Amino acid sequence: MVAPTIQAVLAAAASFVVVNLILATILIICKGNSDRRRNNRSVSPSRAQNLENPKPENGISISESASFDPTLNRVSMQELVDVTRNFSPELIIGDGSFGLVYKARLYSGSVVALKKLSADAFQGLREFRAEMETLGKIRHPHIVRMLGYCATGSDRVLIYEFIEKGSLDQWLYDMSSEEDCSGGVELGLPISWNNRMKIIRGVANGLAYMHNLDTPIIHRDIKASNVLLDADFGAHIADFGLARRIEGSHTHVSTQVAGTMGYMPPEYIYGATMATVAGDVYSFGVLMLEIVVGRRPSFPFPGEDGKEVRLVEWINNMIEKNRYMEMVDASICKEELNESVVVEIFKFGTKCANENWKIRPTMREVIEELDKIII
Ligand SMILES: Nc1ncnc2c1ncn2[C@@H]1O[C@H](COP(=O)(O)OP(=O)(O)OP(=O)(O)O)[C@@H](O)[C@H]1O
Ligand SMILES: *[C@@H]1O[C@H](CO)[C@@H](O)[C@H](O)[C@H]1NC(C)=O
Ligand SMILES: *[C@@H]1O[C@H](CO)[C@@H](O)[C@H](O)[C@H]1NC(C)=O
Ligand SMILES: [Mg+2]
Repeated sequence: MVAPTIQAVLAAAASFVVVNLILATILIICKGNSDRRRNNRSVSPSRAQNLENPKPENGISISESASFDPTLNRVSMQELVDVTRNFSPELIIGDGSFGLVYKARLYSGSVVALKKLSADAFQGLREFRAEMETLGKIRHPHIVRMLGYCATGSDRVLIYEFIEKGSLDQWLYDMSSEEDCSGGVELGLPISWNNRMKIIRGVANGLAYMHNLDTPIIHRDIKASNVLLDADFGAHIADFGLARRIEGSHTHVSTQVAGTMGYMPPEYIYGATMATVAGDVYSFGVLMLEIVVGRRPSFPFPGEDGKEVRLVEWINNMIEKNRYMEMVDASICKEELNESVVVEIFKFGTKCANENWKIRPTMREVIEELDKIII
């Protein structure tokens, strides 16, 4: 089937323009073009309106790209295909529920992480675009920057800044091979106590920022694999793929809950259909405990009496018996630990991960409390 190629140039006030309609599935060209140089955001509302009805049922699909970063204003699907040697398996750095993640260097020289979403990962182009626009505006030292995206037909590629040390998940579990804090480990050293505290604070800062935007953004899937680490163990929260904005009660935007077992607050599991900021606080509390203990909250393990327990339940039991120090990850140097700080961290972590959302602090309160606890 051959469809005519229609060149549509949609101009928009202070903005950006896009391009092509396509031949069946073969020729896929996605050209992004930012024609007003000095513009920070390249997608304008008026253009979004013009593109409101991509008609995939006619065999015609729309290609577009957008960049939210001035250094990236001409990225196209063709470029992404080139720099990844057609999404070569050698460049894969991760595999998540939405698709594969590749590392690449763009023509501009920037090193980026490309998340190629599987075809069914996102709904319509319009919803996708609205979501990307929101996320593209976020600039915060503890939130992974989304630099832009490229969409062609059902292909969607998200462009993120590359965070060099990868995910916290890998650092907690893949690399710390020995129960030994003195080094001599092949892949990397276990993370020190101080760096763990730094990571916890970084995540708290990033989350507090999102929760306190005029239109708060709920992450909904806070977990160790969604925390990326830079060279100095600064934390950057990744993956807003599941996030939606809360716009009061009259919202038509889906706010369905989603998440990962072990990190999911009980109210999501038992009925609640709306994600809340308190839900994120729960996941944050679990993450905080996980970082100190070095055990995955998603895997139940045998407790005292041989019965399977999850991380938070186990910690609550241990706290009742005053057994704090033995919960701390064995790969952290004992000399680094101050018992009263350890105790406070566990108590506060379980408060954040309280079953009852009314007892959990807000992220602002979390930051204040951490400032008091951590020396
Ligand atoms: N911006 C980035 N910089 C560096 N590495 C990244 C970046 N984004 C993702 N990665 C790597 O790719 C891996 C997979 O990420 P991805 O988000 O696809 O899966 P996930 O977090 O494990 O699961 P989920 O899909 O539920 O979020 C991450 O754990 C991380 O190692
Ligand atoms: C881009 O945004 C920054 C801050 O948001 C502003 O200072 C700067 O002037 C903007 N640049 C242009 C070209 O609009
Ligand atoms: C542990 O930290 C507390 C402050 O939280 C401090 O008063 C105390 O001196 C520290 N103890 C040691 C052994 O460093
Ligand atoms: Mg992720």
